[in-house]
Amino acid sequence: MKAFSLKGKTALVTGGNSGIGLGMARGLAKAGATVAITGRNAAKNERALAELNRIQPGCRGFAADLAKTDLIRSAYAEASKDMGGFDILINNAGTTIRGPAEDLTLDDWSTTMALNLTAPMFLSQCFARERIERKQGGSIIFTASLMSEASRSTTAAYTASKGGIRQLIKALAVDWAKYGIRVNGIGPGYIETDLTRPLHENEEFSAWVKKRTPLGRWGQPADLEGMAVLLASDASAFVTGQIFYVDGGWLATF
Ligand SMILES: NC(=O)c1ccc[n+]([C@@H]2O[C@H](COP(=O)([O-])OP(=O)(O)OC[C@H]3O[C@@H](n4cnc5c(N)ncnc54)[C@H](OP(=O)(O)O)[C@@H]3O)[C@@H](O)[C@H]2O)c1
Repeated sequence: MKAFSLKGKTALVTGGNSGIGLGMARGLAKAGATVAITGRNAAKNERALAELNRIQPGCRGFAADLAKTDLIRSAYAEASKDMGGFDILINNAGTTIRGPAEDLTLDDWSTTMALNLTAPMFLSQCFARERIERKQGGSIIFTASLMSEASRSTTAAYTASKGGIRQLIKALAVDWAKYGIRVNGIGPGYIETDLTRPLHENEEFSAWVKKRTPLGRWGQPADLEGMAVLLASDASAFVTGQIFYVDGGWLATF
């Protein structure tokens, strides 16, 4: 299946040192891409790289705090220079700060928006400017969420940021289609990662997730590999402006 091959392609995966990002990075590397990952924690980057380099030599890690929005452009430029540019960008790094909306602080709101919405927008702009200058298309993938469609209590800032991602995907897909840059999203259901550890360690909540998910289980980072390869590759050459939910059927029922 040549159309699914990423041989000779380079990809930047933010938050690629753990969880969903690492799952997608593994998929891209297995399909032949050389992958650069980012995360704040250099030790986590190294651990992930050891694994990725066994799949595809030449993968690199870059330590960057993407919530510091004034550093986004320089973080992208450093990684891109080192890797000779990127064909694929996965905007995956994200966080959640849980709490009742009436207690939400301006800081909680700003941090969530900076990492979940502002960084993806301006990393995408860096990527697009480079691809436009080179007269080459590319693929941008955002990690969306069930909260791009619906909400759950104590998630106001997160829900707003992921709802923003949903519309940003459409806006960028429309603006950049003429340059051959496709923009799509992957919306994971409940996936077992560090971010959701408090939830899957809570027996009652975990049981509810399994009951509420038609396929009857939590998702794993490996469940994201296939969709990442599909959207990054020529196999989805006529697909842009969409979110694909990898959610075990969650959104299909209530
Ligand atoms: N797990 C789920 O059920 C689920 C469902 C829907 C959507 N998502 C989304 O999936 C994405 C990944 O989450 P995950 O569940 O895989 O969690 P995770 O394992 O905790 O991964 C989060 C990643 O983001 C990086 N990161 C966190 N803060 C950062 C910052 N300020 N600057 C740069 N990188 C930062 C982390 O690396 P460092 O710690 O090294 O910085 C890590 O690589 C997020 O966008 C999340 O909203 C998750």
